[in-house]
Amino acid sequence: MKKIEAIVRASKFEDVKDSLSKNEINFFSFFEIKGYGHETGKQVNYRGGVYDIGYIGRIKLEIIVSEPFVETAIQAIAQAARTGEKGDGIISIYDLANVINIRTGLTGTEAINK
Ligand SMILES: Nc1ncnc2c1ncn2[C@@H]1O[C@H](COP(=O)(O)OP(=O)(O)OP(=O)(O)O)[C@@H](O)[C@H]1O
Ligand SMILES: [Mg+2]
Repeated sequence: MKKIEAIVRASKFEDVKDSLSKNEINFFSFFEIKGYGHETGKQVNYRGGVYDIGYIGRIKLEIIVSEPFVETAIQAIAQAARTGEKGDGIISIYDLANVINIRTGLTGTEAINK
C-alpha cells in the first residue's frame, strides 16, 4: 500500500480527476493549497508594502492505493497534470503502515477495496 500525494495546477484538477477515474480510481482527498516552487513565490515591494506574486492556484490530492494501482495512478496524474511549463507540480509516494476502514473495521488493502 502506498499513499500518493500530488500537487497540481488547479486548472488541471478536472483532467487529473477524469484520468484517475478512467483507471477506476475514484477515491481521493483534495485540498486547496498555496506553495512556493523555484519560479514562484517572488516578492515585490509596492507602495511601502511587500506582496507575494506568482501564486498559482494549486490542489493537493492524497490517494491511498494498493500496490497494483500505484504505477497506474502515478502515470494518470502525471500525464493529465503536465503542461510542460515551469510549475506543473510534484508527485510524492509514501509507504503506508496501515489503513483502517471505520465502518467495517477492515484493515490494510481490505480497508480500501470495495
Ligand atoms: N520540494 C518541494 N516540497 C514541497 N512542495 C513542493 C516542492 N517543490 C514544489 N512543491 C510544490 O509544488 C508547487 C509547484 O512547484 P514546481 O516545482 O512545480 O514549480 P517550479 O519549481 O516553479 O517549476 P519547475 O519545478 O517546473 O521548474 C509549489 O508551489 C509547491 O506547492
Ligand atoms: Mg520545482
